[in-house]
Amino acid sequence: MVEAHPAVDRLLSLGLFMPNCSNMPSISTHEVVAQQWTYAENELLAQRAEALGFDYLFPVSRWRGFGGETNFLGTSLETTTWAAALLRATERINIFSTVHIPLFHPFVVAKMGATLAHMSGDRWGLNVVSGWSAREFGMMGVELAEHGRRYERTAAFIEILRGLWDSSQQPLNHKSDWYSVVDGEASPIPQRQPQIANAGTSADAQSMTARLCDWAFISTPSIDALGTLIKGIASQAAAHHRLVRTAIFPFLLWADSRSEAEDKLAAIIAAKDSEAADNWLHDLTAGSGSFDDFTKDMLAASGGGVHLVGTAADITEQLIEAHRLGVDAVMLTFPRYREDLERFARDIQPTLVRAGIVAPS
Ligand SMILES: Cc1cc2nc3c(=O)[nH]c(=O)nc-3n(C[C@H](O)[C@H](O)[C@H](O)COP(=O)(O)O)c2cc1C
Repeated sequence: MVEAHPAVDRLLSLGLFMPNCSNMPSISTHEVVAQQWTYAENELLAQRAEALGFDYLFPVSRWRGFGGETNFLGTSLETTTWAAALLRATERINIFSTVHIPLFHPFVVAKMGATLAHMSGDRWGLNVVSGWSAREFGMMGVELAEHGRRYERTAAFIEILRGLWDSSQQPLNHKSDWYSVVDGEASPIPQRQPQIANAGTSADAQSMTARLCDWAFISTPSIDALGTLIKGIASQAAAHHRLVRTAIFPFLLWADSRSEAEDKLAAIIAAKDSEAADNWLHDLTAGSGSFDDFTKDMLAASGGGVHLVGTAADITEQLIEAHRLGVDAVMLTFPRYREDLERFARDIQPTLVRAGIVAPS
């Protein structure tokens, strides 16, 4: 029996970290759902998630796969065009696009974002990533800056973006190492500022997020590790008189017994694509440190999301604990998205609703 948590007055929002890339979410050859990345599958999932009362869809942005037998994430749908179609195929759910800052000009994202907001009744949001894969950027001849500089550039980008979405700041002027804006203007503008999330957990990411973003999209190797990180971001945000919400992307694996769920995890890990996992790990951890406490097997099984493994009751308790520690939204990942979303709605969501932490759908 799960008790309600009267001490926590905010609700936990449900979302999906969508499979818009091939082989998501595991760097493994175990039971890969080959067509899961396609637009048709993504649209069915989006509509089903909306019908089940989910609030958010986040995509992954990728430009190249990670080699090996799976070429992990090697086939992927671009996330602003993907969001445009999904926003028109749904009515209520909020949909984000994920943008690599060094690959786009802020005027282009400002215009795309305003268009997406206009098309969707302001349901669009932006997830910014500062870039980390030399394999990916190297292919394009784009320099991968030193870690701290990446976030300085992202901060400049967001400042321009916010200015271009706010008529009171126009004509906009900005000068930094990356951008020069002279009498900048953009129209239309969204009716309200789109939500901006940053994906990353390093100290550089935290301070930029606290100052400029609405969401910290983070990952830790365990639920327990979330509390300190969330408090750190919240206290930095408070210094700027701001509130930042937190989202995570847990990997959910549940069965009738714990041992059965653990066997499923072991099977995914046993079939890991070592070459792709090495390439992923090599690029992701370079200059970061954020994933140092993840083992290669942990990363291989979920692509970097925290593992929630056990019975439905175990998973429910861990989600409640994440919420107690300050998580505002969970962007769920599953081995088999369509099937597991229905299982989640049957086995886990009703208990979260009864516990009073998730709104009834
Ligand atoms: C929740 C989450 C989602 C992410 N999504 C993407 C993505 O779609 N594309 C990408 O290139 N990187 C993605 N990343 C990687 C981050 O952008 C970042 O490079 C990485 O977390 C290391 O950054 P840090 O050293 O500041 O923590 C994601 C990271 C997290 C934690």
